[in-house]
Amino acid sequence: MMHEYLHIEQSLGLNGQASLFGAKNAVLVIMASTLLTNGKSRFTNVPRSHDVYQMMRLLTSLGAAVSFDEEVHILEIDTSFVNKFSVSADLMGKMRASVLVMGPLLARFGQAQVTLPGGCVIGARPIDYHLKNFERMGVFIESIQEVVCAKVAALRPTKLVFDYPSVGATENILMLATLTQGITRIVHAALEPEVLDLIAVLKKMGAKITIMPPATIEIEGVNQLYPVEHEIMPDRLEAGALLLAAAITGGQVHIPQAPAYAMEIFLSKLQDMGHVIQVGPLDVGITLKATTDPKAVSFKTTPYPGFPTDLQAPMMAAQCLASGTSIIEETVFENRLVHVRELQKMGAQIVVKHNVAHVTGVDELYGAQVIASDIRASCALVLAGLASTGITIMSAVHHWRRGYDALEQKLGLLGARIAYHYEESPKNTIDPLLSSAKQSHLHHVS
Ligand code: EPZ
Repeated sequence: MMHEYLHIEQSLGLNGQASLFGAKNAVLVIMASTLLTNGKSRFTNVPRSHDVYQMMRLLTSLGAAVSFDEEVHILEIDTSFVNKFSVSADLMGKMRASVLVMGPLLARFGQAQVTLPGGCVIGARPIDYHLKNFERMGVFIESIQEVVCAKVAALRPTKLVFDYPSVGATENILMLATLTQGITRIVHAALEPEVLDLIAVLKKMGAKITIMPPATIEIEGVNQLYPVEHEIMPDRLEAGALLLAAAITGGQVHIPQAPAYAMEIFLSKLQDMGHVIQVGPLDVGITLKATTDPKAVSFKTTPYPGFPTDLQAPMMAAQCLASGTSIIEETVFENRLVHVRELQKMGAQIVVKHNVAHVTGVDELYGAQVIASDIRASCALVLAGLASTGITIMSAVHHWRRGYDALEQKLGLLGARIAYHYEESPKNTIDPLLSSAKQSHLHHVS
């Protein structure tokens, strides 16, 4: 049986410059949107994260021709011969973002068959907002156990008022509306930066989309959309991870492509901690110089432009070593504090009441064997490991691989002692220093 883990040693004072790959939460939905067109689209700055490969498999199963030049991060998707509208349960179950093909398939074929994408550790993650709003647009939905069959009766342009600004539901409805005759309005839409990158792609394809304050998206349906070329927006979540790596180790990092314009509240909280932040012209590019005496800050996750839920776990790691108490409230997902248990194993002082974590800063964390529970929890544990005394072994590395493209290599270039290990059969006790495992990406600061 194979056993993979990240071996992380204390690496104080990370220092240097880092680049960013494209945002996972933009590229996945943009890949799905190619189903709205016939022909070959080309995307650059595409991350080699596992979810991207999963979406490639899904599109291929529908008849698309997909090629990914990993060396230069260029992905081409030809949808000329897409001839299926049903997605296998196996493919649906692998990734939440699979549900994002529903809107495009309904627009292309008038029907779509998927299975419920299932929940994960951070929550049940139902798709009721998606289905309810498809029905309001004239789609007939039939759910038989896990299988959802959607069929267009007669698509009608509608004003949809969302109860909650769901990112996925906004994206799914938006994509169907681009090819629905008439004016569709989404009131109380999600306007996350990744949704805006999707809108930029759809408009390049020929869609007619207007965003009206405070959060209404108006779509005028057109007859046809066309293949595009697009550079995926830089990943604000990868940028957040790199900034926090410098912050938690007392170092300094410069990220020339960082979309500061999409990270305002997060950056403001880092400044409240005492870290020095410099932002480049046009709010692109961020430099962080860590303070030697970080202050704990409190925050609550909410839809954009509020504090992003995807940076909650990584930011919590930084609070564990800050002076004072941080109160962190998670309001987007009902169970996104699973990483607390693992941080406590490392010596963090955290008390959870309902969906609020009370973090009291300590002087030191200690390396431990920890388990990643989701993508962003894996980032929190890596950050804590970089600051901890001793060695941290993080298993369930597949979460890390799903959300980041070899981020351990970028951290290594900043001086982090972090290595990916792969073992055919785990020993009784993991002693990475004696492990015969193939070591890759091990970076030692000279
Ligand atoms: C997207 O998920 C992101 N994933 C998530 O990133 C991100 O955390 C989330 O948006 C919020 O920003 C992708 O873009 C692939 P939602 P999504 O619909 O679309 C509930 C990561 O780590 N809900 O805004 O699923 C839902 O359960 C991932 O990169 C319903 O109840 O987010 C959640 O509690 C994690 N019914 C809340 O709304 C629905 O039909 C927000 O979900 C849909 C959602």
